[in-house]
Amino acid sequence: MSLLEVEDLRTGYGLLPVLQGLSFSIDEGQTAVLLGINGAGKTTTVNAIAGLLRAWSGQIRFEGSRIDGLEPWDVVARGVALVPEGRRVFPAMTVRANLELGAWTSRAQVRKTIDEVYGYFPRLQERSGQLAGTLSGGEQQMLAIGRALMSRPRLLLVDEASLGLSPLLAQTVFQVIDRINDDGTTVLVVEQNAGVLPYADQALVMEKGTITFDGPATALEGSDELRRTYLG
Ligand SMILES: Nc1ncnc2c1ncn2[C@@H]1O[C@H](COP(=O)(O)OP(=O)(O)OP(=O)(O)O)[C@@H](O)[C@H]1O
Ligand SMILES: [Mg+2]
Repeated sequence: MSLLEVEDLRTGYGLLPVLQGLSFSIDEGQTAVLLGINGAGKTTTVNAIAGLLRAWSGQIRFEGSRIDGLEPWDVVARGVALVPEGRRVFPAMTVRANLELGAWTSRAQVRKTIDEVYGYFPRLQERSGQLAGTLSGGEQQMLAIGRALMSRPRLLLVDEASLGLSPLLAQTVFQVIDRINDDGTTVLVVEQNAGVLPYADQALVMEKGTITFDGPATALEGSDELRRTYLG
């Protein structure tokens, strides 16, 4: 069954349309990657799913129920968490306090979830008392993912996790996202880096607010021609 269904979604900013009838779905347990050049509408898509931007028309369904029109915190409560573009950690708070802010559960559950996050990112545990603003870019990205995990989402949306990271660090982040998926969380990652393809099941390519490719990630990974056609 599809966990997330986006159907004929239209939205934009002011009078400017960006998503022009966007449709795709993601099955439970999958890792999907949304690729596309700058300005294609990737951030607009995940922000609309997260409730940060209203849909003009169309539907967004999660577990079969509509979530378009819900406030962002209600979308989180349903089980969808976003790691926003640009990380947005709170620089003057400690690593641990940043994680606690992402929590939506009982205290006992918070402790357990922080331990799980530290399991994925041992570096965050080493730096738990350090102010987030003093972390490296890669560590801040780990913290942003960890904070999103604190709500124990069933669907994790990650907007450009690899931006500004070294190729090696980007691979490390992709590997952790892969583990998070193995542990049962469905994932949608936005990327401009095709290096994410080996970690994905489903590839979506968007161009000017619509989906131009939707298929197995291996198809895109295995074909230079397809990659040239869709990724430029
Ligand atoms: N807050 C905003 N106000 C007005 N226009 C916006 C706003 N945010 C994005 N846009 C426009 O919407 C279009 C899609 O932007 P979006 O950020 O969704 O693209 P993207 O695929 O995430 O790009 P990038 O790879 O640069 O992150 C672009 O033309 C952009 O200029
Ligand atoms: Mg973007």
